[in-house]
Amino acid sequence: MNILILGSGGREHAFAWKLSQSNKLSKLYIAPGNAGTFLLGENIPIGVNDFDKIKEVVLEKDIDLVIVGPEDPLVNGVHDYFLEDAQLNNIPVIGPQKMAAKLEGSKEFAKEFMMRHEIPTAKYQSFTAESLNEGYEFLESLEPPYVLKADGLAAGKGVVILKDLNEAKRELKSMLVDAKFGSASTTVVIEEFLEGIELSVFVLTDGINYKVLPTAKDYKRIGEGDTGLNTGGMGAISPVPFADKVFMGKIHDQIVKPTVEGLKKDDLPYKGFIFIGLIKVGNNPKVIEYNVRMGDPETEVVLPRVQNDFVELMRAVANGKLNEVNLKIDDRTATTVMLVSGGYPGAYDKGKMISGIEDISDSIVFHAGTTHKDGKVVTNGGRVMAITSYGNDFNDALKTSYTSIEKLKFEGMNYRKDIGFDL
Ligand code: AMP
Ligand code: GLY
Repeated sequence: MNILILGSGGREHAFAWKLSQSNKLSKLYIAPGNAGTFLLGENIPIGVNDFDKIKEVVLEKDIDLVIVGPEDPLVNGVHDYFLEDAQLNNIPVIGPQKMAAKLEGSKEFAKEFMMRHEIPTAKYQSFTAESLNEGYEFLESLEPPYVLKADGLAAGKGVVILKDLNEAKRELKSMLVDAKFGSASTTVVIEEFLEGIELSVFVLTDGINYKVLPTAKDYKRIGEGDTGLNTGGMGAISPVPFADKVFMGKIHDQIVKPTVEGLKKDDLPYKGFIFIGLIKVGNNPKVIEYNVRMGDPETEVVLPRVQNDFVELMRAVANGKLNEVNLKIDDRTATTVMLVSGGYPGAYDKGKMISGIEDISDSIVFHAGTTHKDGKVVTNGGRVMAITSYGNDFNDALKTSYTSIEKLKFEGMNYRKDIGFDL
């Protein structure tokens, strides 16, 4: 089977790594890929939203299956583009169709979905510029802190949490009236603040059947102790130690099952990964957000624990045969620590030479923002590499990741030394 992966991060390197272990894989292509995926397949320098170019590649390379890594091509309708094209419509795409991708593309749509299917989540209301005054009144009715969410995709920056009521009102006006996040904040969801510890659950579905993949917890802030600016994710752990059997039972019954059944009831075609961001409030799970893809760096700890042949798994999703799959999960814990460029998530330099990769034997190096320059691997993004290790528990696994990291170097390299600090 020839497979094309869309994307260029650590998530996509992890997909490529897992697919490469299957003897059912013939040729692997990654568009655009990075210096890590380069070792496992052919990188093709095209953008993930350039559907016409993707079509050319799919036909030219005789691709049998496409796996979509990031959300934007899904929200932009890459799956629908395939279905509507006579030359492409028999080539399966892993990732939901546009209508279902709105679960990530619109916070308001996601909230309405949860209301309709009685899935526990924070109380909310949504507002536009016309209802700014009602928005102020709703803020006044809530206890601080105040959670404001731009409805649309805002590159992970669209959620603002503020302690002060007046500041929250100013922020609401700036989002709605001054278009702080462009058209993404034409509508703003204001919701009740939930206090608790976060975790994520990943579900793989063929639209009818589904499998719950291992849980993971990521660390989003740049600074130790969860301080400073938000990033794409600085590290992750799987499984989440506090997600015991009873709690997972609640997640399954109250959230996973109604989500997959809700998609069916609402006629939202979904073949792919559902990433459910949760918060444990008291002893109960509530949904913070849906993403219509795998997480990054969560994929770098979830996939290493999935023991099934990944080509077979993707084929089962494509063919609606997930019910025939018996998911096998490694009991060990996996952890990953993200190495980032100095300055990230603010401005940072690219093109810094990375040394030591070939000296790593106890961990898996998943490339994220890397590329080649003059035959050398160099930095090419804010998040540069994720260093994944296995262990009997998360402390054990982290020790291995941190020991491996001592061998790696690039100018300005930064990482969090406290992944798992809150567990
Ligand atoms: P999101 O961009 O939806 O992932 O939200 C970013 C972060 O904001 C989440 O990971 C949570 O830490 C936080 N957050 C979002 N909604 C709430 C809420 N209702 N209560 C508390 N924290 C929240
Ligand atoms: N690590 C969070 C995300 O992938 O959205």
